[in-house]
Amino acid sequence: MSDSLDRINWPVATRRLSLRRLEVADAQATWDYRKLPEVQRWITSRADDFPQYLEQFMKGKRYSRDVAVQLLDAQGQPQLIGTVMVKVKDGWGQSEIEDAARGVEAEIGWSFNPEYGGLGYATEAVRGVIDLCFGPLGLRRVVAECFAANEPSWRLMERIGMRREGYSKRDALHRGGQWLDGMSYALLAEEWPIRSEA
Ligand SMILES: CC(C)(COP(=O)(O)OP(=O)(O)OC[C@H]1O[C@@H](n2cnc3c(N)ncnc32)[C@H](O)[C@@H]1OP(=O)(O)O)[C@@H](O)C(=O)NCCC(=O)NCCS
Repeated sequence: MSDSLDRINWPVATRRLSLRRLEVADAQATWDYRKLPEVQRWITSRADDFPQYLEQFMKGKRYSRDVAVQLLDAQGQPQLIGTVMVKVKDGWGQSEIEDAARGVEAEIGWSFNPEYGGLGYATEAVRGVIDLCFGPLGLRRVVAECFAANEPSWRLMERIGMRREGYSKRDALHRGGQWLDGMSYALLAEEWPIRSEA
């Protein structure tokens, strides 16, 4: 379903940022910050070096479900400062009507260069991506999950008004070897009324 992002007229501007599709040529720019221990600690896949990272990046065109978030630097050049994943997926439906539940929601996720942290850029980008989910993509629900110990991530979800739907006790295995608590958040299109009409 990665081609769902083709339905959007890129690039998309938010107040301070520009959003576009992530491309193969962005592999190095994303590795530059995804390799940092404070970023790798929370993301799904880690790599030891760039070749290993590139393999993961390319596998099944994984990069193609990510939105690249760009900020103009002092010279007016766009800098890639983070990515927001949009994985369009099926909702759950009873068997006779399950076709009507196909491709109606998205799981979103993010990682940003900590050099640009604490300025609301990730918040702004995720809001922009949710606008796209409920606007041109026409989805009915957006979900996001994180380890409960990843406070910056769930604070972001709460800042933008996502609703906490679940707190699971020690259900998620961290690569540190411990089973950690997890949290899940969601939003319905009707809970995002003003922006989805924008
Ligand atoms: C999750 C992550 C994106 C959050 O980064 P962040 O810097 O906290 O998020 P933002 O860029 O939106 O900045 C928000 C902070 O800037 C502040 N801020 C400043 N100006 C702001 C503005 N205009 N709008 C919103 N927030 C603003 C906020 O108060 C907030 O700080 P606080 O948490 O101390 O209150 C980042 O920690 C990250 O990439 N982590 C590693 C990867 C990861 O965990 N991915 C998620 C896996 S589930």
